[in-house]
Order: sequence, then C-alpha cells, then structure tokens
Amino acid sequence: MRNLIILLVVGLAAAEDGASAWLRYAPVPQASNYRSLPLSIVALNTTTSSPVHIAGKELQEGIKGILGKELSIADGTKRGSSSIVVGTIDAYKKTFGDFEEADDLEEDGFFLSTVGQNVRIIGQNQRGALYGAFEYLSRLAQGKFSPVTYVSNPHAPIRWVNEWNNMDGSIERGYAGPSFFFKNGFVVENVTRAAEYARLLASIRVNGIVINNVNANATLLSARNIEGLGRLADAMRPYGVQLGISLNFASPQTFGGLNTFDPLDPSVDAWWTNITNQIYKRVPDMAGYLVKANSEGQPGPLTYNRTLADGANMFARATKPHGGVVMFRAFVYDNHINESNWKNDRANAAVEFFKNLDGRFDDNVVVQIKFGPIDFQVREPPSPLFSTLHNTSTAIELQVTPEYLGQNCHLVYLSPQWKEILEFDLRADDKPSKVKDIISGERFKRPLGGSAGVVNVGTNATWLGSHLAMSNLYSYGRLAWDPSLESEQMLQDWIRLTFGFDRKVIDTITEMSMKSRAAYENYSGNLGIQTLTDILYTHFGPNPASQDGNGWGQWTRADGFSIGMDRTVKNGTGNAGQYPPAVARVFENIETTPDNLLLWFHHVNYTHLLKSGKTVIQHFYDAHYEGAATAQTFVPMWESLKGKIDNQRYSEVLFRQVFQAGHSIVWRDAISRFYNNLSGIPDQAKRVNNYPYRVEAEKMKLDGYKTYAVNPFHTASGSMAIVTTSNSSVGTASANITYPSGTYDIAVNYYDLIGGRSKYDISINNRTIGTWTGDLEDKLGHAPSIYLDGHSATRITFKGVKVNKGDMLRIVGTANGIEPAPIDYVSFLPPGIID
Ligand code: GCU
Repeated sequence: MRNLIILLVVGLAAAEDGASAWLRYAPVPQASNYRSLPLSIVALNTTTSSPVHIAGKELQEGIKGILGKELSIADGTKRGSSSIVVGTIDAYKKTFGDFEEADDLEEDGFFLSTVGQNVRIIGQNQRGALYGAFEYLSRLAQGKFSPVTYVSNPHAPIRWVNEWNNMDGSIERGYAGPSFFFKNGFVVENVTRAAEYARLLASIRVNGIVINNVNANATLLSARNIEGLGRLADAMRPYGVQLGISLNFASPQTFGGLNTFDPLDPSVDAWWTNITNQIYKRVPDMAGYLVKANSEGQPGPLTYNRTLADGANMFARATKPHGGVVMFRAFVYDNHINESNWKNDRANAAVEFFKNLDGRFDDNVVVQIKFGPIDFQVREPPSPLFSTLHNTSTAIELQVTPEYLGQNCHLVYLSPQWKEILEFDLRADDKPSKVKDIISGERFKRPLGGSAGVVNVGTNATWLGSHLAMSNLYSYGRLAWDPSLESEQMLQDWIRLTFGFDRKVIDTITEMSMKSRAAYENYSGNLGIQTLTDILYTHFGPNPASQDGNGWGQWTRADGFSIGMDRTVKNGTGNAGQYPPAVARVFENIETTPDNLLLWFHHVNYTHLLKSGKTVIQHFYDAHYEGAATAQTFVPMWESLKGKIDNQRYSEVLFRQVFQAGHSIVWRDAISRFYNNLSGIPDQAKRVNNYPYRVEAEKMKLDGYKTYAVNPFHTASGSMAIVTTSNSSVGTASANITYPSGTYDIAVNYYDLIGGRSKYDISINNRTIGTWTGDLEDKLGHAPSIYLDGHSATRITFKGVKVNKGDMLRIVGTANGIEPAPIDYVSFLPPGIID
C-alpha cells in the first residue's frame, strides 16, 4: 500500500506529454479492492506479430501499471488454476473445449468474463480478442472491478479513420505538426509512431486507416512507396488496423503514362488492375481505396461523361478479388455556382449526383457521405443522401480534426454534434430510419457500411495538438462501435483514463466539455447560418462576408434586411424536398423548423421573431455575448484543477483555454459588428460598438507606429489597429489612463502573424507589467495567417494591475520578420467585466 501511495504521488507530479493518451495505465487508488486478479496470462497465439499475442503483452503491461502486479505470459495451451485467457473462439475451443457463447459473436466482436477464478477474453477473430483485452484493461484502469460477463459486437463493419497526409509531410487541415507517414515525397522509414497510433486506434476498435490525403498524389503508387505502404501495414497489422489509401483518379495518365483516365477505357481498367495487384502483393490485407472524384478540382469520371458509378466500379473490380472495399466520397459538387440564381444550392449536389445511381454500385463500394450537406459546419441537418440511397452501402464521414470548429485551439467536444446526426430519424418510407441504422447497413439491408473519421494526427506528442481534443478521437471510435453510447458517459470514461479519478477533475472537465459546442456555436455562427469563418482562407477566425459572393456555395445571402438560405420547395432551392416527406414537411415550414436550423432552411428579415420571442438580430448579438462569456469561464474552471493534474498538461491546457477566451471575444465582436453594420439595427443591450473599457491603439500617441485600416474591418475594434512604420522598427504607443484609480486586469488585443515574432513590452509609468512575443505560430498549431485579420487577432491579459488615474500607459512593440508588432486595443477590466 505504501508503495502505491508513493507511486500515486509520483504519478501526479511527473510531467505527462499526452503521448499515452487514454492508455496511461496509471495506478488506480482502489487497486487493493481487486482481490481476484488471476496469477498469469495465457495468450492463445505464439506468433509475435499476432493481435492475440499483442493482447497478452498489453495485458501484462497494463496490469503492471494499473495494479502494480507483474503477471507472466504463457503463450501456451494450458491455463493454470487462475489465468487471464485471451484468444479467438477457434483457439479457445481447440484448447479448452466448449465455448457456449460462440454463436453470439459477430465479426470483430468479443466475449469478456471476469466471473470466478479466471478471466476469459475471447474474440470472434484475433482483432476481437485484442479489443476485449483493451476493454478489460479499460475497466481496470477505471477501477471497475465488479465481476461481469458480456458480449460486445460492433454496430457496423467499417470503422475507419482518414488521415489527410500529403506526401511532402504536411497535413491538410492538421493541427498537430507534420506527418509521421510521409516525408519528402516518400513513406517514412521509421514506422514506430504509426504502430503506436495503430495501438491507440485498436483500443477504440477502429479497424482501418486511410493514410493519405483525399486530394491524392499519384506518386504514392511508385514502387518505392508501395514498399513503404507494406512497411506501414506490417507495423499496424499486429493491432488489427488495416491500411487503405486515397487515389488520384487521373493516375493512369499523370503517373502511368496513358493518354487517358477514362474509366471505361480497357487500358485504364487494366492499369488499375495491375497496380492494385502490385499493392496487394505487398499488402495482402489492404482495406481498400478511398476516392475523391470530380470535387473541388479533382479529376473524375465526369471528365469523360461517365457516371460516378462507372468510376467507383472500376476500382471495385480491381479490389474485389483481394477482398478490398472502395469508399467513394459523395462530396461531389461544383464550386463555381452562381449566387445570383436563387435556386442554386450546393447542399443539393450530393443527392442530385447520386440519386439516379442508386443500385448501380458494385457490392464492395461504399458511398462515404459527409454528415451534413455542406462541409463539417458547427450545425447542419443530416445529409439527405443517407435516406436517398436504399440499394447502395453508405458510411458517414465525421471530422475529428475540427477544421471549422476552432482547429483544436478552442475546446469543442464533438460527440454531442455527432450524436444529433446519428440519432436523427430520416423517416425513409415513413419508417424508423435513424442515420446510425442506415450507415450500419441495417435499415436498408446492406452488406457494408459504417463510419470514417477525418482525424489528422501529427507528430506533436499530444497527437491532435490539444490534450482535451483527444476526447473527440476517443468518442469517435466508441461511437463507431456503439452509437447508442451517451456523450457524457464516453467523456467521463475518457477523463478517468486520461486524468484520473479526482471528482473535481471529472466534474470540471465534464462541465467544460459539455458546454463547449454550444459556446462555440454561439460565438461562431448560430441559427443554422454555419460557422461564419473565413472560408476563402484558413477556416479559423471570423469573416462572415467571405461566405457570399463566390462560387463555393456556403452562402448566407445576408443583405441589409434579411439573411438565410431559402431551401424550401415552394420558394427556394428545393433542398427541404430532398428529405423524406415527414422530415421535408418539418423543414419546409418555418413554424416547425427548429430555431437552430432556421437560417439553414429559410431566408428571413433580421426582425423575424424566433420561437424564443427574440428577433433574429438580437439573438445573434445575445448568443455571441453569451458564447464568449461561457468561454471565459473555462479559464477559472481549469485553474481550479491546479495541483490535481500534472504540471505539463495543466499548463498546456491552460494556455489553450486562455487563447480561446481571448479569441472568443474576437469572434463575438467581429460577428456582432458585421451584422450590426449590415442591418443598421442596434443591440438592445447597447454592447455592440460600445466598449467603455478599451483604449483604442489608434487613438494613443504614436511614435514609430502608424494607424492601419484592418480588413475585414470588423476584426479590429474601431476598425483600426496600429503597426510599426517599418518592418525593422520599434514603435511606441502611449496614453494617459483616464479610468478611476484601482486594480484592473489589463488585456491587450494584438495580431500574431506567421512569419514574424514581434516583441512587446507594456508598462505603466515606466514600470513594466508584462512582456511577450508574437510567437503563437510556434505554439498553437492552427492554420496561420499572414494578415491582420480574425485568424491572427488574439489577446494577452495581465491580471490584477494597480493603476492610478493619469498614469502613463505605454506599449513598445518591436517588429520582426513580416510582423509589424500590430496592436488593436488595450482593455482596463474591473473585476467581473468582460470586454
Ligand atoms: C473541405 C476542406 C478541404 C478538403 C475537402 C474534402 O473543403 O476544406 O481541405 O479537401 O473538404 O473533404 O475533400
């Protein structure tokens, strides 16, 4: 017991970098309550690379960490009087005879029994056995010691992740450093981290990984890279994770030297068959292909007037003999549509492209559908394509990497959003048709189906760039296996495994995470208007104007009087009519459309009254203030955990929460000012454009600084900021403090551009109260900006500063690189004020 106490204390103090994620195997305080731990482990497979053997090792390592007991592993055939036996049904029967529950197990499923002297972990296949071992360890690590016996089967066969890695080592929409799959055009030599990732994936029962970007590069198919794929597959196979790759549709021409990539041309067909055979020779168990065709400039069958099914089936024929699957993305749309046509709508594209192809895809094709009709926005209804395809297998595409949801610099726990979609009843043929039952294959009796999560892990120790974001990867895997799980339940399992058992830690992270999506929606884009980010640049900070006036089709149709996409059948784009009648009726009618999707389906005046009784515009203002206020509370909530979490993770999370708190104010002000300016309707609460605690930088006395009109204007307070007069100069901005003497939190809003690390010094009466460097590009990992805008706008706060009326406030900024030490304003915040 004494040893355990020492271990626990050491465990808390030791820095943790997040690399172990939820597989920390930290000692559990309740270990002494577990009296019936068996004496040895029997793994019913002796091949060192087999998942069952790996399961034995994992059990040994896990139990040592969690319970402090070192069990021996017998790869043998005999179990002692008390063992943990892990193996497949077949191996178990061969060794021990009967196994009654055998028929209850489906592919990848497992049986776990901890009743009596022995623990039995029996998989339908080797992968299932490994899943069972992780399940048992997860129970132990959470102190769940009571005896259990149960079978667990997957909801769907396809539980994949997609990783948008480029061959040069960058990751599209990845926020955790460079790739660990590719470098300089080739598969990496060292596959250790790939194996570690596969282990993490296996523990949440993910069984496939597509390692390269959907915007695929044909050079992946070179002999050297095929060998590299083999290396990766070998590293991941012991964890039951099968490798898949994304293909570039034009490869036969751009890489293979043919003069066409027409899917109906026999030479093209033969080329794909040949290359597919080569890959399968090296990777006999390859999961299959993922194809993005005729989308956002990618080539595809439409180039030759062939159908999307012609294209998909070409790959299906090539992979079929090898048991491979073709995931064919439904993200097909024209990104040059004309907004002046009221009936045009990108949201209609998927159904329009695919509805006549239903039943024309080969059996090993799965149409992979983004959860909503547009593109991973903070709120969308489910894609109507889920209920359109009855004779085609489908999978849902979710985004774990929150491209439009704060890029892991904002806390957004995504499971509640995914659950809304998965549980949505589309009422196809007026029968229960929940999305989760459509993608599993159950509803329309399809042989295949499941989910694909775009994750984009990188080399950063935390995997995703943020410790708290890992709850998203964890719950993605758990939901892919069992979509009936509750968001809070998965979250709390994850917290116990990641941060331990302290009640306050569990309650606090639960509260922050469960409030996070609503907070983000409130300050980014509400009422179904989409995430009002800059869609033409980095998808991170606010820029509502960028949604309209271009062919991308993420329109809001906002003008001086009204806003929203009219997707009704009677007067709009007809998108509501793509849903089965029972659902279409709800969305067609403004009275029955829920407020949170109002502007997705209807175009209304800013003065339109919501069900809450507020006008649309006042709701915008209030929600943005409310969301930002909630984000402020995450900082003290997290601070209340100091000493209860190791220092490294404590301070890394705190850093991000402080950033989010500041950036949520940037969002709040930008969006409210934009619509205030557009509509001319004042905020009833008089907050918008009224910032009594701010000293605008452009109004200070400037020396070596000049004023700068920020574009978009609403990403600067007063629409103006200051920048140094040259890129190599030092600027000073000063002003006498006019606020009453007292103690304030002093917040400085500035812009942190990529390509420079400016230095700042803030002083009161020549007494420095803080210095900092504009180096967030080294710390945050979101897609950076080279401009003064909503992406680069940020805030630093110095707390509890005593000032006297008349004191001299001075900021000295030293430009660096392309960054001219830009400053927007300084806020003097009395206790409790957010501004
Ligand atoms: C989004 C994203 C792109 C990505 C595309 C896709 O548009 O911004 O980076 O390539 O989706 O899913 O294909």
